[in-house]
Amino acid sequence: MDDEKELDEVLKEAIKEAEEAESSRVLYEKKMRFLGRMGIVMNFMKRMKDVPPEKRPSFGKKVNAIRDRLEEEFAAFEEKLKKRELEKKIAEENVDVTMPGKRRKAGALHPVSLVKAELIDIFAGMGFEIFEGPEIETDYYNFTALNTPEDHPARDMQDTFYLNDKFLLRTQTSAGQIRLMEKKQPPIKMLSPGRVFRSDDDATHSPMFHQMEGLVVDDHITLCDLKGMLDEFARVMFSKTSKTRLRPSYFPFTEPSVEVDVSCAACGGKGCSLCKGTGWIEVLGAGMVNRRVLENCGIDPDKYTGFAFGMGVERIAMLKYGINNIKLLTENDTRFLGQFKEEN
Ligand code: DAH
Repeated sequence: MDDEKELDEVLKEAIKEAEEAESSRVLYEKKMRFLGRMGIVMNFMKRMKDVPPEKRPSFGKKVNAIRDRLEEEFAAFEEKLKKRELEKKIAEENVDVTMPGKRRKAGALHPVSLVKAELIDIFAGMGFEIFEGPEIETDYYNFTALNTPEDHPARDMQDTFYLNDKFLLRTQTSAGQIRLMEKKQPPIKMLSPGRVFRSDDDATHSPMFHQMEGLVVDDHITLCDLKGMLDEFARVMFSKTSKTRLRPSYFPFTEPSVEVDVSCAACGGKGCSLCKGTGWIEVLGAGMVNRRVLENCGIDPDKYTGFAFGMGVERIAMLKYGINNIKLLTENDTRFLGQFKEEN
C-alpha cells in the first residue's frame, strides 16, 4: 500500500477508536497511541527519509494535515466525554435532602454513675465537700487507724486483696476519713466516693464495687444529726414518704454503730417480696466516730464529736431501680444499660 493511502487508513482507524472510547482516560491512552511521541503518526514522520525525494513535500503535508485533523478530532471527543463525565458525577453526588438521616444511638450514663452523681448532688447540697482517696492503700489507713488492729476479729468482716505486706486494695472508703482528718481540723463535712475491692463474689457481691463515705465532725454533733440527714437523703433518693430507722450494729471505727434501714419504697412499708415482708430495707452502716479514730488523726475527742456513714452505690442502685443481680452492672449489656436514660 502506498504511504498516503496507509495514512488515510490510520486516520479512519484513529477516528473509529476515538469514537469508541468510553472514558476520557481511555481516550487519552488512544490519543497517545496515535499522536504521542512514539505514536503511529510520528512513525510516519520518521519514515520521511525513506520516501522518494519528489514525493516528500506532498507526503509531509499529508502527515501534518492528518496530525492536525486528529488533534482536533481527539479534542472534540475529549470535550464531549469530559462533559458527560462531569454530568454523571454531579448526578451521583446529588444530595437528596428528603432522605432520612442516619441515626446515631445516644449513649446513656451507667446506673452506678447516675446514682453516684445523685448522691453527690444530695450531699453537696447539704454542704459536704468531695474527697477522693487512693484505691491502693496501706494497712494503716484501711484498718489500723480505723481502730482495727492486726489481730482484730473485725478484719474478717472484709476479705482483703493484699498486694504485699504493706499495700492492699482498699476494702472501704472509710480509709478516706483518716486521710482527710489527718490534714484538716473540724469543722469537717466530707463525702468520699470511690471503688473498693473485696474477695467476694455472688449475686449481691462483686469483687469491685463503689462506696460513698460520709463524715461530719464538729462541736456537738449527735446521732440525731445523722438521723435527720439520712431522712433527707432517703426522701430525695427513694420517695417523698421514705423514712429511716437505726438498728444497733458494730463497726470498729464507730461507737455506737448502727445499721440504717429505709422504709421499702416498693410497698410503702407494708411488707413485700423486696423487703422480705419486713417493710424495711438495709441500706448503709453508720455511727458516731470512735474516739480512738479521732485521736489517731490528732483531733481532740473531748472537744469534737462526729458521725460517719458508708453505703454501697451498687446496692442503692439495685434498690432504686429494682435490679436483682449485681452482675448486670458489670456485664455492660447495652439492652440493660439503655434502660437508664435520664428523662430530661
Ligand atoms: N466501711 C463500712 C463497710 O464497708 C461501712 C461503714 C459503716 C462506713 C459505718 C462508716 C460507718 O463510715 O460509720 O462495711
